[in-house]
This record gives sequence, structure tokens and C-alpha cells, in this order.
Amino acid sequence: MPGRTQAALYAEIDLELSWSEEELPQTERTKHVHSLHPYLGKFIPQLVETFLRRHFRPGDCVFDPFVGSGTTLVEANAFGAHAVGCDVSAFNCLLSRVKTSAYSLGSLELALKGALEEARRSAPADAADAGAWLRSWYSERALGELLAYRAALDGLDRLDRAAADVGRVVLSRAARSARLTTHFDLDLPRVPQRQPYWCHKHRRTCRPVDEAMKFLRRYTADTIRRLREFAALRTPAEVVVLHADARRVELPLRPSGIVTSPPYPGLIDYHEQHRYSYELLGLRDRSADEIGAAARGRSRQSVRAYVEDMVAVLANARAQLPAGAPVIVVVDDSRDLYPEILARSGVGLEARLTRHVNRRTGRRAGEYYEHVLVCRTA
Ligand SMILES: C[S@@+](CC[C@H](N)C(=O)[O-])C[C@H]1O[C@@H](n2cnc3c(N)ncnc32)[C@H](O)[C@@H]1O
Repeated sequence: MPGRTQAALYAEIDLELSWSEEELPQTERTKHVHSLHPYLGKFIPQLVETFLRRHFRPGDCVFDPFVGSGTTLVEANAFGAHAVGCDVSAFNCLLSRVKTSAYSLGSLELALKGALEEARRSAPADAADAGAWLRSWYSERALGELLAYRAALDGLDRLDRAAADVGRVVLSRAARSARLTTHFDLDLPRVPQRQPYWCHKHRRTCRPVDEAMKFLRRYTADTIRRLREFAALRTPAEVVVLHADARRVELPLRPSGIVTSPPYPGLIDYHEQHRYSYELLGLRDRSADEIGAAARGRSRQSVRAYVEDMVAVLANARAQLPAGAPVIVVVDDSRDLYPEILARSGVGLEARLTRHVNRRTGRRAGEYYEHVLVCRTA
């Protein structure tokens, strides 16, 4: 844009990033595979889209060291760029792979409906051997139905691994909805709710859920619909998801730049929010490797450990990026930690934009601001 200074351009982006609910309704923010499964702490796809268009070209390779629910990878693929990412959470890797894989949709639909039918015929499975956590968070009937579906997926896995993995995401989503919890506390329930309770959300007495099959049916249909929608946008660009620690990961593809949103100290436990999945699917727990985990708190010592960890992540990434590569970091840096982190990892800050975020639902509802750090490798 002739005649415009870099600062004026960034000021313009700044405005564009603070979309109102009317400009960017929830249906757009949660379009196609982006809402395949609930996830606390994702960024919105339109943010990724904006920076891909501004800093990358189709055919480039985008790296996300903190894949989470896979927002960057999905948007990079739709944009026509290759994508590589890692996450220490096995569930997040499963979810991101399922979102970004290419499927033969007819056979996928048949396979998932077959698994559902088999689970319906054999449910409830015997839950006597299930672990104590599962037995405390589900009614006997709901757990028996989830375990019957899990057994059906184990059978499907031998024939079609990719379809079984899609089924595992359906299982996890149904398991989240079928927990013994209140309607207003699905994000982070603390204790199982076994009795009827006064529901603040519905302003009446509600009962905890007693079954899982209705969720399995609903989410099977919704998942197929969402995968079909994304299939229409999907490009042949490659997507690689690694279950690895971002401080040490060695990338199989040479990235052109980064678009990411890192964890922040003391905010979220990323394994714990999907505990039901780890329990049901027997996924490997690497929560000890989580950077900034909420369980470690926000003490001075935890914040210093966070800074060291983030320097390690960005220095490791920088060593695998070309000089001058774009690095876009979306983070609520209220402690102003990033100037030090970036300087020590050899990444130069070009602009620090502020985005107004308006969360509408959940216990963490309310308004807040996040930052978009537009940087370049030295
Ligand atoms: C803010 S979330 C990313 C959300 C993502 N942008 C999305 O839209 O879904 C941060 C992620 O970093 C992951 N993480 C934490 N420590 C990590 C580490 N050492 N290596 C790789 N990933 C890590 C967490 O598991 C979590 O998924």
C-alpha cells in the first residue's frame, strides 16, 4: 500500500482484530471442524487467517509449537500452506490429526454408524473393571454405554484406524457431556454431582445426566457434517502433528514461519481439562512437561520457570527457521514477559497489537484483552 507507514498498517490490523459479535458471530468462530470438540484456551480461526494472508503464501510451511485443538493447522491447510505442529497433550494431537486428515467420507460415515450400532446392541458394557475416576464421574448406565462404544472402536481400529480415531473424538465429546456435573459447570467441574440441583443456567431444578448414547448419536452426526464441510475447503497441503515437547522438537519439514498461541503461567491445565479422555482412551499423560500449567500456580518461581521454558521453545524454533521468518504470537501478556522472552530467543518484535476479546459463555465469561506479537527471526 503506497504512502502508508508500517505503523499505520499495524494500526489498521489492530482495529480489524477486535471484531464485535455482530461482525464475527459465534457460528463463524466455530465453523466446520473448529468445533469438533470443546477446548478451553483456543484462539479464533479468523485471527490465524488474517496473519496467514499477511505474512505467508500458499506452499509455505507454517509451524505451531503449541498445536492445542489445531486451529493454526486447519487454517494453514485451508489457505494452501503446509503445516507442522507439536503438543505435549496426546488428546490435543489426536483431535488435531482427526480435524486435518483427509477421509473417504462415504466409508467414514458407514464405519462410524456401524460402531454406533454395535455399541447400541452390546450396551451397557460391564463397568466393574473401569478405574475409580470413571466410576465416580459417570452413572453406571452412562459409563456402560461409553465403554460399549469404546469396545466397538477397538474392533473398528483393526480395519480402519483413521475412522476409529474420529470415533474416539466422538467418544471423548460424549464423555464430556455425560459426566455427573451441573449444566453450568461443564468446563471445569470439581466434584461429581449425583443429586438434582438448582441450575443457574436454566433457572430450575435439573438432574445430572444418566446416559451417554444420545450424545454418541448426536455427535456422530455432527462430526460427519463438520468433516464434510471442511473437506470442501481442504487442500492437498501436508499436515504433520507431532506428540512432542516444543522445547526440544525436531521438525520433519522446514517451516517458513510461526503462528501460535502459547500457554500462559497459571491459567489452564491442558491435560486435566480432558481428563475423561485420558481415562477412557488410555492416552499417555505428559502433564509434567506442560509449560505454565495452572497446577504450578503463579508464584515468582513458576513465572521465572515459564520464561525459561518459552525462551527454550522459541530458540529451538528459531534454529529451524530461516532468517527474517514471521513469528506471530497470540498471548495475554499482562505480566509483560514477552519482551525478555523474545529478546533472549533471537526473535525481534515488530509490533505489539491489542485485541479486545469478548467471551460470552462459561465460567470464564467476561471481557479481556490479548496481545498479538508480530515478530521476525533475526
Ligand atoms: C493456548 S493452547 C494452544 C491453543 C491453540 N492455539 C488452539 O487454537 O487450539 C497451548 C497449548 O500448549 C500445549 N503445551 C504446553 N506445554 C507444552 C510443551 N512443552 N510442548 C508442546 N506443547 C505444550 C498445551 O497442551 C496446549 O495445548
